[in-house]
Amino acid sequence: MLVGLKEILEMAEEGSYAVPAFNVYNMETVMGIMQAAQEKRAPVILQVYSRLFAQGEARFLAPVILEAAHSASVPVCFHIDHGAGKNEIMRAFRYGCSSVMIDASAQEYEENVALTGEIVQLAAANGLAVEGELGHVGSVNDASMDEFTVPEEARDFVEKTGVAALAVLVGTAHGRYKKPPKLDIQRIADIKAAARIPLVLHGGSGIPDEQIQAAIKAGIRKINFGTDVCYAFLDKVFAVPREIYAIDLFMKEPVAGVSAFAAGKIELLGAAGRA
Ligand code: 13P
Repeated sequence: MLVGLKEILEMAEEGSYAVPAFNVYNMETVMGIMQAAQEKRAPVILQVYSRLFAQGEARFLAPVILEAAHSASVPVCFHIDHGAGKNEIMRAFRYGCSSVMIDASAQEYEENVALTGEIVQLAAANGLAVEGELGHVGSVNDASMDEFTVPEEARDFVEKTGVAALAVLVGTAHGRYKKPPKLDIQRIADIKAAARIPLVLHGGSGIPDEQIQAAIKAGIRKINFGTDVCYAFLDKVFAVPREIYAIDLFMKEPVAGVSAFAAGKIELLGAAGRA
């Protein structure tokens, strides 16, 4: 069933686990993740990058995700990831997202507060809750990292904006790490104590398992996996024998690859058997 962000994260808060949020790009990545979610009886978030809303692909992908969610017997949230601005967010409403993220983390603090607060109001009028970001989670290719999220600032940000979930900068980045990241677990616990809402960890691909588990213990309730979904899919695409050309048959192994990857993360995050 299709559920909202608040609902799915409240379940995680009660059970002290994290909901995996997988970035999806096409029907096959959706199918792979849903296979794993159903088999593992796990709540999942299917999220789509903002640029697919900006460039139009999300218009075709949204009906696939909505069908997957409506026909599933586990809770599924349809989320716009790193919503870049009002245009993308308005499209997310139109295409049926049950949850939105606005990412103004690269802007000055006051501007981040103002835009995020405005999106929270707009989303509330559509019955949706919002993920914001404080402390810009960059890419593994960036020359330097932003300042890590400050707990007191997180409290102020949550109070002023009304976000339901907060993405924080505690040592992760997007992409394939050149060497394993080292998360500031104490900071996660301090932010959680100050902000008192579910926290989100971006850049989930390649974080060592024990750090993921420590982060969940400290208060992370949503973990994003993008790059590794792509590799789980593409590694299989490149391995399929060229004699298989009927695309539905060709896609069987890539779908299975995504499903196996998602099943592993569902177990790791403690989300298995929760739905
Ligand atoms: P990775 O691509 O590093 O897994 O990060 C995904 C993400 O955080 C999406 O918002």
